[in-house]
Amino acid sequence: MYKLGVFDSGVGGLTVLKELMGKFPHTEFIYVGDTAHLPYGNKSAQVVTGYAREIIRFLETQNVDAIVIACNTASALAYPALKKSVETPMFEMIEPALLRAAALTKTKNVGVIGTRSTISSGAYALTAKKLTPQLTLTSVACPLFVPLVEEGMLSHAITRATSELYLAPLKGKIDTLILGCTHYPLIAPIIGQVLGKGVQLVSSAQVAAEAVHATLSRPKLEPMLKSSHVELYATDDPLRLADFARRAVHLPVREVHLLHLKGL
Ligand code: DGL
Repeated sequence: MYKLGVFDSGVGGLTVLKELMGKFPHTEFIYVGDTAHLPYGNKSAQVVTGYAREIIRFLETQNVDAIVIACNTASALAYPALKKSVETPMFEMIEPALLRAAALTKTKNVGVIGTRSTISSGAYALTAKKLTPQLTLTSVACPLFVPLVEEGMLSHAITRATSELYLAPLKGKIDTLILGCTHYPLIAPIIGQVLGKGVQLVSSAQVAAEAVHATLSRPKLEPMLKSSHVELYATDDPLRLADFARRAVHLPVREVHLLHLKGL
Protein backbone atom coordinates (compact mmCIF):
# COMPACT_ATOMS: atom_id res chain seq x y z
CA MET A 1 0.00 0.00 0.00
CA TYR A 2 1.37 3.37 -0.99
CA LYS A 3 1.58 6.54 0.98
CA LEU A 4 1.46 9.48 -1.42
CA GLY A 5 2.42 13.06 -0.62
CA VAL A 6 0.59 15.69 -2.68
CA PHE A 7 1.16 19.44 -2.52
CA ASP A 8 0.01 22.68 -4.06
CA SER A 9 0.13 26.38 -3.32
CA GLY A 10 -3.29 26.03 -1.71
CA VAL A 11 -6.71 24.73 -2.61
CA GLY A 12 -6.33 24.11 -6.36
CA GLY A 13 -4.31 20.91 -5.98
CA LEU A 14 -7.40 19.33 -4.45
CA THR A 15 -8.58 18.82 -8.06
CA VAL A 16 -5.49 16.64 -8.55
CA LEU A 17 -5.98 14.90 -5.18
CA LYS A 18 -9.53 14.03 -6.20
CA GLU A 19 -8.34 12.48 -9.47
CA LEU A 20 -5.64 10.56 -7.57
CA MET A 21 -8.17 9.25 -5.05
CA GLY A 22 -10.23 7.92 -7.96
CA LYS A 23 -7.20 6.07 -9.29
CA PHE A 24 -5.85 4.84 -5.92
CA PRO A 25 -8.84 3.80 -3.84
CA HIS A 26 -6.83 2.00 -1.11
CA THR A 27 -4.11 4.53 -0.48
CA GLU A 28 -2.97 6.90 2.24
CA PHE A 29 -2.62 10.52 1.09
CA ILE A 30 -1.02 13.48 2.79
CA TYR A 31 -1.99 16.76 1.15
CA VAL A 32 -0.30 20.08 1.89
CA GLY A 33 -1.87 23.34 0.69
CA ASP A 34 0.61 26.18 1.14
CA THR A 35 -2.14 28.70 1.81
CA ALA A 36 0.27 30.98 3.70
CA HIS A 37 2.13 31.66 0.45
CA LEU A 38 -0.70 31.46 -2.09
CA PRO A 39 -0.68 32.40 -4.95
CA TYR A 40 2.49 30.93 -6.48
CA GLY A 41 1.29 32.03 -9.91
CA ASN A 42 2.90 35.47 -9.85
CA LYS A 43 6.07 34.60 -7.87
CA SER A 44 9.65 33.91 -8.98
CA ALA A 45 11.28 30.51 -9.47
CA GLN A 46 13.62 31.13 -6.52
CA VAL A 47 10.81 31.88 -4.08
CA VAL A 48 8.52 29.05 -5.23
CA THR A 49 11.43 26.56 -5.14
CA GLY A 50 12.15 27.58 -1.53
CA TYR A 51 8.53 26.94 -0.49
CA ALA A 52 8.38 23.65 -2.39
CA ARG A 53 11.64 22.45 -0.81
CA GLU A 54 10.26 22.98 2.71
CA ILE A 55 7.01 21.17 1.90
CA ILE A 56 8.95 18.25 0.43
CA ARG A 57 11.08 18.10 3.60
CA PHE A 58 7.91 17.84 5.66
CA LEU A 59 6.42 15.14 3.38
CA GLU A 60 9.66 13.16 3.62
CA THR A 61 9.39 13.19 7.43
CA GLN A 62 5.99 11.49 6.92
CA ASN A 63 7.71 8.67 4.99
CA VAL A 64 5.79 9.09 1.75
CA ASP A 65 6.68 6.72 -1.10
CA ALA A 66 6.26 9.38 -3.78
CA ILE A 67 5.41 13.05 -4.09
CA VAL A 68 2.99 14.61 -6.57
CA ILE A 69 3.62 18.27 -7.31
CA ALA A 70 -0.06 19.05 -7.82
CA CYS A 71 0.62 22.63 -8.92
CA ASN A 72 1.49 23.67 -12.44
CA THR A 73 3.37 26.75 -11.29
CA ALA A 74 5.56 24.71 -8.91
CA SER A 75 6.03 22.09 -11.65
CA ALA A 76 7.17 24.84 -14.02
CA LEU A 77 9.34 26.88 -11.64
CA ALA A 78 10.60 24.49 -8.95
CA TYR A 79 10.65 20.94 -10.36
CA PRO A 80 13.70 21.49 -12.64
CA ALA A 81 15.86 22.38 -9.59
CA LEU A 82 14.22 19.95 -7.13
CA LYS A 83 14.57 16.85 -9.29
CA LYS A 84 18.36 17.16 -8.98
CA SER A 85 18.35 17.01 -5.19
CA VAL A 86 15.20 15.20 -3.99
CA GLU A 87 15.54 11.42 -3.65
CA THR A 88 11.86 10.55 -3.17
CA PRO A 89 10.25 9.85 -6.57
CA MET A 90 8.39 12.93 -7.77
CA PHE A 91 5.65 13.48 -10.34
CA GLU A 92 4.88 16.79 -12.02
CA MET A 93 2.09 18.17 -14.17
CA ILE A 94 3.67 19.29 -17.44
CA GLU A 95 4.95 16.21 -19.30
CA PRO A 96 1.77 14.10 -19.00
CA ALA A 97 -0.38 16.98 -20.33
CA LEU A 98 1.87 17.56 -23.34
CA LEU A 99 1.98 13.86 -24.17
CA ARG A 100 -1.83 13.63 -24.00
CA ALA A 101 -2.24 16.77 -26.13
CA ALA A 102 0.18 15.33 -28.71
CA ALA A 103 -1.85 12.12 -28.80
CA LEU A 104 -5.16 13.97 -29.27
CA THR A 105 -4.35 16.79 -31.69
CA LYS A 106 -4.91 16.34 -35.40
CA THR A 107 -3.67 19.73 -36.54
CA LYS A 108 -0.59 19.76 -34.21
CA ASN A 109 -1.71 23.22 -33.10
CA VAL A 110 -2.04 23.09 -29.34
CA GLY A 111 -2.74 25.85 -26.82
CA VAL A 112 -1.72 26.01 -23.18
CA ILE A 113 -3.14 28.34 -20.55
CA GLY A 114 -1.70 28.87 -17.07
CA THR A 115 -0.70 31.40 -14.46
CA ARG A 116 1.55 34.31 -15.37
CA SER A 117 4.63 32.63 -13.83
CA THR A 118 3.93 29.26 -15.51
CA ILE A 119 3.60 30.84 -18.94
CA SER A 120 6.50 33.30 -18.59
CA SER A 121 8.80 30.51 -17.33
CA GLY A 122 8.52 28.94 -20.78
CA ALA A 123 8.40 25.50 -19.09
CA TYR A 124 5.69 24.11 -21.38
CA ALA A 125 7.44 25.41 -24.50
CA LEU A 126 10.83 24.03 -23.39
CA THR A 127 9.42 20.63 -22.46
CA ALA A 128 7.44 20.50 -25.71
CA LYS A 129 10.61 21.22 -27.69
CA LYS A 130 12.23 18.10 -26.19
CA LEU A 131 9.24 15.79 -25.79
CA THR A 132 6.72 16.75 -28.47
CA PRO A 133 8.64 18.80 -31.07
CA GLN A 134 5.90 18.12 -33.66
CA LEU A 135 3.55 20.52 -31.81
CA THR A 136 3.12 24.21 -32.48
CA LEU A 137 2.35 25.55 -29.03
CA THR A 138 0.54 28.83 -28.32
CA SER A 139 0.71 29.90 -24.66
CA VAL A 140 -1.58 32.39 -22.93
CA ALA A 141 -1.41 33.57 -19.30
CA CYS A 142 -4.84 33.81 -17.61
CA PRO A 143 -4.09 35.36 -14.19
CA LEU A 144 -7.70 36.29 -13.34
CA PHE A 145 -9.00 32.71 -13.58
CA VAL A 146 -7.57 31.63 -10.19
CA PRO A 147 -9.31 34.34 -8.12
CA LEU A 148 -12.57 33.84 -10.07
CA VAL A 149 -12.54 30.11 -9.24
CA GLU A 150 -11.64 30.78 -5.61
CA GLU A 151 -14.59 33.18 -5.36
CA GLY A 152 -16.84 30.36 -6.56
CA MET A 153 -17.76 32.21 -9.80
CA LEU A 154 -17.58 28.99 -11.79
CA SER A 155 -20.38 29.82 -14.22
CA HIS A 156 -20.67 33.59 -13.67
CA ALA A 157 -20.94 36.12 -16.51
CA ILE A 158 -17.66 37.71 -15.37
CA THR A 159 -15.88 34.39 -15.83
CA ARG A 160 -17.39 34.05 -19.30
CA ALA A 161 -16.34 37.60 -20.28
CA THR A 162 -12.82 36.99 -18.92
CA SER A 163 -12.62 33.74 -20.89
CA GLU A 164 -13.68 35.53 -24.09
CA LEU A 165 -10.91 38.06 -23.53
CA TYR A 166 -8.12 35.60 -22.65
CA LEU A 167 -9.01 32.93 -25.19
CA ALA A 168 -9.50 35.25 -28.19
CA PRO A 169 -5.90 34.68 -29.46
CA LEU A 170 -6.52 30.90 -29.46
CA LYS A 171 -9.86 30.90 -31.30
CA GLY A 172 -9.66 29.21 -34.70
CA LYS A 173 -5.96 28.50 -34.19
CA ILE A 174 -5.87 25.29 -32.10
CA ASP A 175 -7.71 21.98 -31.86
CA THR A 176 -6.47 21.04 -28.36
CA LEU A 177 -6.04 23.12 -25.21
CA ILE A 178 -4.04 22.17 -22.10
CA LEU A 179 -5.62 23.48 -18.89
CA GLY A 180 -2.23 24.15 -17.32
CA CYS A 181 -3.38 25.21 -13.86
CA THR A 182 -5.02 23.37 -10.99
CA HIS A 183 -8.05 25.65 -10.94
CA TYR A 184 -9.01 25.54 -14.61
CA PRO A 185 -10.78 22.14 -14.69
CA LEU A 186 -13.43 23.78 -12.49
CA ILE A 187 -14.27 26.26 -15.28
CA ALA A 188 -13.76 23.79 -18.14
CA PRO A 189 -17.44 24.06 -19.23
CA ILE A 190 -17.12 27.83 -19.87
CA ILE A 191 -13.70 27.46 -21.53
CA GLY A 192 -15.12 24.72 -23.77
CA GLN A 193 -18.14 26.85 -24.74
CA VAL A 194 -15.99 29.87 -25.56
CA LEU A 195 -13.59 27.88 -27.76
CA GLY A 196 -16.29 25.78 -29.40
CA LYS A 197 -16.82 22.08 -30.00
CA GLY A 198 -13.79 21.64 -32.27
CA VAL A 199 -11.35 22.14 -29.37
CA GLN A 200 -10.54 19.27 -27.00
CA LEU A 201 -9.56 20.15 -23.45
CA VAL A 202 -6.75 18.35 -21.62
CA SER A 203 -7.03 18.57 -17.83
CA SER A 204 -3.51 18.42 -16.45
CA ALA A 205 -4.99 17.23 -13.13
CA GLN A 206 -6.59 14.20 -14.76
CA VAL A 207 -3.70 13.17 -17.02
CA ALA A 208 -1.12 13.71 -14.26
CA ALA A 209 -3.12 11.36 -11.99
CA GLU A 210 -3.23 8.83 -14.80
CA ALA A 211 0.55 9.10 -15.23
CA VAL A 212 1.12 8.53 -11.49
CA HIS A 213 -1.16 5.51 -11.63
CA ALA A 214 0.58 4.09 -14.71
CA THR A 215 3.89 4.17 -12.81
CA LEU A 216 2.76 3.11 -9.32
CA SER A 217 -0.17 0.81 -10.02
CA ARG A 218 1.61 -2.42 -8.90
CA PRO A 219 0.37 -2.70 -5.32
CA LYS A 220 2.88 -3.03 -2.52
CA LEU A 221 2.68 -6.40 -0.80
CA GLU A 222 0.99 -5.06 2.32
CA PRO A 223 -2.57 -5.14 3.59
CA MET A 224 -4.73 -2.64 1.68
CA LEU A 225 -6.80 0.07 3.34
CA LYS A 226 -10.54 -0.48 2.94
CA SER A 227 -10.79 2.98 1.38
CA SER A 228 -8.33 5.81 0.79
CA HIS A 229 -7.38 7.92 3.77
CA VAL A 230 -6.49 11.62 3.48
CA GLU A 231 -4.68 13.86 5.96
CA LEU A 232 -5.02 17.50 4.92
CA TYR A 233 -2.60 20.23 6.01
CA ALA A 234 -2.71 23.97 5.33
CA THR A 235 0.06 26.42 6.18
CA ASP A 236 -2.58 29.06 7.01
CA ASP A 237 -6.36 29.22 7.46
CA PRO A 238 -7.17 25.48 7.55
CA LEU A 239 -10.91 26.22 7.65
CA ARG A 240 -10.76 27.81 4.21
CA LEU A 241 -9.05 24.75 2.74
CA ALA A 242 -11.67 22.52 4.37
CA ASP A 243 -14.47 24.70 2.98
CA PHE A 244 -13.08 24.62 -0.58
CA ALA A 245 -12.53 20.86 -0.33
CA ARG A 246 -16.19 20.32 0.57
CA ARG A 247 -17.73 22.97 -1.69
CA ALA A 248 -15.69 22.81 -4.89
CA VAL A 249 -14.33 19.27 -5.07
CA HIS A 250 -16.86 17.51 -2.80
CA LEU A 251 -14.31 15.83 -0.54
CA PRO A 252 -15.76 14.61 2.74
CA VAL A 253 -13.38 16.51 5.04
CA ARG A 254 -13.48 16.26 8.81
CA GLU A 255 -10.36 18.16 9.79
CA VAL A 256 -7.50 20.17 8.26
CA HIS A 257 -4.29 20.48 10.33
CA LEU A 258 -2.31 23.69 10.54
CA LEU A 259 1.28 23.13 9.37
CA HIS A 260 4.15 25.39 10.31
CA LEU A 261 6.96 24.98 7.80
CA LYS A 262 10.23 25.08 9.72
CA GLY A 263 12.62 26.79 7.32
CA LEU A 264 10.27 29.67 6.41
N1 DGL B 1 -1.81 25.98 -8.16
C1 DGL B 1 -1.44 27.02 -9.10
C2 DGL B 1 -1.15 26.39 -10.46
O1 DGL B 1 -1.55 25.29 -10.77
C3 DGL B 1 -2.52 28.07 -9.21
C4 DGL B 1 -2.70 28.90 -7.95
C5 DGL B 1 -1.51 29.78 -7.62
O2 DGL B 1 -1.21 30.72 -8.37
O3 DGL B 1 -0.88 29.51 -6.63
O4 DGL B 1 -0.49 27.02 -11.26
